[in-house]
Amino acid sequence: MRKKILAANWKMNLSAADAQEWITNFSEANRLYAELEYRLYAPSIYIQQLTDRKAIHVGAQNVHSMDLGAFTGEISIPQLKSIGAQSVLIGHSERRTIFNETDALLLGKVEACCRNSFSFIFCCGENEDLRNVGEHLHLIREQLSGLLGQMKPEQLELLTIAYEPIWAIGTGQNADTHQITEVHAFIRSMLMEFFGEQGRNVPILYGGSVNAENAESIFSCPEVNGGLIGGASLNATHFLQLASFLQ
Ligand code: 13P
Repeated sequence: MRKKILAANWKMNLSAADAQEWITNFSEANRLYAELEYRLYAPSIYIQQLTDRKAIHVGAQNVHSMDLGAFTGEISIPQLKSIGAQSVLIGHSERRTIFNETDALLLGKVEACCRNSFSFIFCCGENEDLRNVGEHLHLIREQLSGLLGQMKPEQLELLTIAYEPIWAIGTGQNADTHQITEVHAFIRSMLMEFFGEQGRNVPILYGGSVNAENAESIFSCPEVNGGLIGGASLNATHFLQLASFLQ
């Protein structure tokens, strides 16, 4: 049985002192659910101070596709690995929409992860306009087919997929259980179309306004193997409260 994943995405929030307080609170908390994998996607400048504590899987929120070179301001996978980072987010909608990251650019990052045997969470999700005209599954297929077409079966263990509808991110308006069930089933069917039975092993996370009030119904949807949490992850205690709903 694959482990469920509860992942925090701090985005561009918290100071170094806040990060230290978070990891201290997390380390000292009574974590009852050993079969859960906790992950923390932190601003890259805090990764080393967080990995030093050895309390949680720590990943980056972004990475460059090249391993080294003249790319001022960028960070590579070998550099992330050298400070103990264990994975990276690729294709978060904020990277796609605010920073104009295209599917082609994202596939370069996927290739870098595969080349370096580095785990990654590949994010997908539609905006409100596409949802309103019923085109959301088309978009998901478009976002995932390049990814799945590029990966080899032996690389599949590096992959986690996160479904994050853009209209649900940071809005307090989470997708409902029918919407989540439909898209997660669709993603699972795509995984099996490309990889057969092996496609069952790839975790699929939901992200978008998950909190202590809605986590129970969201996490009980079929094919929801965990959550990618923004706002509700900024406080370690609130984040840990969500774990009980992933049992
Ligand atoms: P919120 O939980 O703040 O809606 O953010 C979700 C998200 O974007 C996680 O990557």
